[in-house]
Amino acid sequence: MINFPRGREVILGVGAGIAAYKSCDLLRRLIDVGHSTTVIPTSSSINFVGRTTWEALSGKPAPSELWDSNEGVAHVDAAKRAELIVVAPATADLIARIATGRADDLLTSTILATTAPILIVPAMHPEMYLNPATQSNIALLRERGLSVMEPAIGKLTSGDEGIGRFPETSIILKEINQLISSRQKLRNKKIVVTAGGTIEAIDPVRYIGNRSSGRQGLEIAYRARSEGACVTVIAANTEEFNLPGVKRINVGSAREMQNAMKSELDTADALIMSAAVVDAKPAARSEEKISKENLVEITLERNPDLLAEAAQQKRPNQVFVGFAAETEGNLLERGLRKLHSKGVDYLYVTDVSGGRVFGEETTTGILLSKRGVSWNFLEAPKVEVASYIVDRLAEDFVELGSGNE
Ligand code: CTP
Repeated sequence: MINFPRGREVILGVGAGIAAYKSCDLLRRLIDVGHSTTVIPTSSSINFVGRTTWEALSGKPAPSELWDSNEGVAHVDAAKRAELIVVAPATADLIARIATGRADDLLTSTILATTAPILIVPAMHPEMYLNPATQSNIALLRERGLSVMEPAIGKLTSGDEGIGRFPETSIILKEINQLISSRQKLRNKKIVVTAGGTIEAIDPVRYIGNRSSGRQGLEIAYRARSEGACVTVIAANTEEFNLPGVKRINVGSAREMQNAMKSELDTADALIMSAAVVDAKPAARSEEKISKENLVEITLERNPDLLAEAAQQKRPNQVFVGFAAETEGNLLERGLRKLHSKGVDYLYVTDVSGGRVFGEETTTGILLSKRGVSWNFLEAPKVEVASYIVDRLAEDFVELGSGNE
């Protein structure tokens, strides 16, 4: 079973404010929504909420210092993995450290090393919040593209009243959703992904088929959905998978796949044809199981080329991506030939000699574009190829005038 997360890889940074306890609720809600959340509390925040609480609630280690992990480079790994960093509560000191580019603990180092969007949720005493030093630090952070929420107004722990309260969890979650969706590159786009291998029945128990776990297509479907696309997966005998929020059409044969494609492609912005389609089928399917004595020869007839036929109907604002699995010859040459003969915008040609790639998590191949650009992948995770393809789609939509910039 291939499981895909429902949400994002989120880092929850916790500063040393009394509102740290309210962040426990935020963490629970982030996890409920499906975000895989890692807590990075500052060392002094541990005086308010202990590490054990964060680890129990998140089910993961909650390190504070660069030295807490002995695997990899902790802050770089965390920064790369993160799709969003939320700092809640952010104290005046933490805001000042982020604004000056300090990297003196795991949280600030991770913030400095990430390219993910960052949401700062300040919570502190009103005098500290309104102090020109804090205000100018906040202005600087906003100028640099970080999102900084306004604190709520009301009664504070000190007994004073004013601006500086930690906002309601629901308001922070709304802000998080907005931040995620405003960055999604495939918003309002419909992507159709074919995945797996089609099969053609010989008789009720036997079939001929193509090997394919469907993993590469499913990774693309997952990435496209994360980028806000409305995704349909036409699945032919793939490994079992769980892809929340994606429409799934199960098919068996090439003909069934073709019918499903016809019904989906009219409204689609892109087709990702990662399925391995059987090129031929038995000319006649026996209704009864053929006895082994009679199972000596199968007459085959050609299946249509689903991709090439669909590409003939392709609208100029649609982007089509084909795949090719090769075992011999020059990968680049064979790929280029198929890119043009199929009439697609991109083609990922992969080397499957010696049974490589099928069902594995890595792939070696070349992504070719009809504009003559190519990208090489060597034992690369299929997720990486998926991200590249999704990025190319997003870029092309921008160029076609229908993208989300
Ligand atoms: N394809 C298709 N219909 C077919 C065969 C292939 O739509 N009957 C699609 C595949 O989904 C893939 C691309 O065409 O995206 C290339 O598949 P491949 O099997 O490499 O191409 P073929 O044209 O079948 O070439 P070969 O002779 O090497 O099998």
